[in-house]
Amino acid sequence: MPKKRGEKDRYLQIIEAMGEGVLLISHKHRVALANSSAQVMLGLSESIKGKRLEDLFSGPELEEHVDIVFKEKKKQTFRIQGYHNAIGENAILRGKGREKHYEFCITPLDEKYSVAIFSDITMLERLEIVRQDFVSNVSHELKTPLTAIAGFAETLAEESLTEEEEKGFARIILKNATHMQRIIADLLLLTSLDRSEIAPTMEQTTDRKILQDVKAYTQFKAESKEIEVTYESLDATILCSESLVVQALINLVVNAISYSPARSSVSVKTRRKGEMLEFIVQDHGFGIAEEDIPRIFERFYRVDKARSREDGGTGLGLSIVRHIAIIHKGTIKAESQLGEGSVFTLSLPVS
Ligand SMILES: Nc1ncnc2c1ncn2[C@@H]1O[C@H](COP(=O)(O)OP(=O)(O)O)[C@@H](O)[C@H]1O
Ligand SMILES: [Mg+2]
Repeated sequence: MPKKRGEKDRYLQIIEAMGEGVLLISHKHRVALANSSAQVMLGLSESIKGKRLEDLFSGPELEEHVDIVFKEKKKQTFRIQGYHNAIGENAILRGKGREKHYEFCITPLDEKYSVAIFSDITMLERLEIVRQDFVSNVSHELKTPLTAIAGFAETLAEESLTEEEEKGFARIILKNATHMQRIIADLLLLTSLDRSEIAPTMEQTTDRKILQDVKAYTQFKAESKEIEVTYESLDATILCSESLVVQALINLVVNAISYSPARSSVSVKTRRKGEMLEFIVQDHGFGIAEEDIPRIFERFYRVDKARSREDGGTGLGLSIVRHIAIIHKGTIKAESQLGEGSVFTLSLPVS
């Protein structure tokens, strides 16, 4: 029985208001009706009504699924990938890098039509890849020291060694275990920073207090390389999570020391810039190539893996710094010149 006109308009309004794309698809693979979300999701400015499916999506998968729906008269849910570039002025943009992922649910209506509801899951798919990469990175990072621990422990248990050799092996085991502890501590910190709903406790402190703490924590490392680290503060007040800011600066100072030759110098300064307080860590070390600079803040990214590991680095330090900057609505910036040195600027709002 035909619906009353008002009621039908209401249904159309509801379909139009949906966040998912809705397509009425004919058995001849044409779009008989589409809501605005469908058009937006496909990145088209012109109406898609009347278009053929093959003009909208690359690959034959969607047509194949539609055929199955009509044949089996049964609902189908599936994911497809791809973007066709045959029509629309956005065609040039739809290169490989703009590949999209969609989740479709198609339900048969009658002999001639079926209705497809779809959403853009590109972001989800990307997150999934990031997650998989992360798990694989973590496993790899833990595997290396663990293999060393197992190997040396086995030799200790089975071979007859001199006391000197035993001590040497035990030290290697300890070094690798400490490295694993560091990785795990950094991972736990990153995870807690990731849960942005847990806002850090902000407290009133001064840059002088922060730099004093940073100095205390890094002095031993600096002395072991005979690197002189100078600290200059303004005694400015700042509202921040003191422990996190100290942690971020320790990471920057430890890097400055690690990636500099012995007996060079490092300076740590603060500078007021409008409503921001800048913490500037400068070294005269090895420097970072221009193409590596955007990548050093990624988890586990290291320019020189061997050197970083040798120094006990986890590859997570700068990623932690970036998170701490973000939590404070601040920024972190790196400038560097190969062979000359680097300057890291952590900029945080004072209140
Ligand atoms: N001050 C610096 N000078 C030169 N290279 C640096 C400096 N700070 C960081 N890097 C580079 O960035 C990489 C990532 O740093 P980080 O996240 O702290 O990890 P880690 O120090 O544990 O390797 C380092 O491995 C190093 O290659
Ligand atoms: Mg580091």
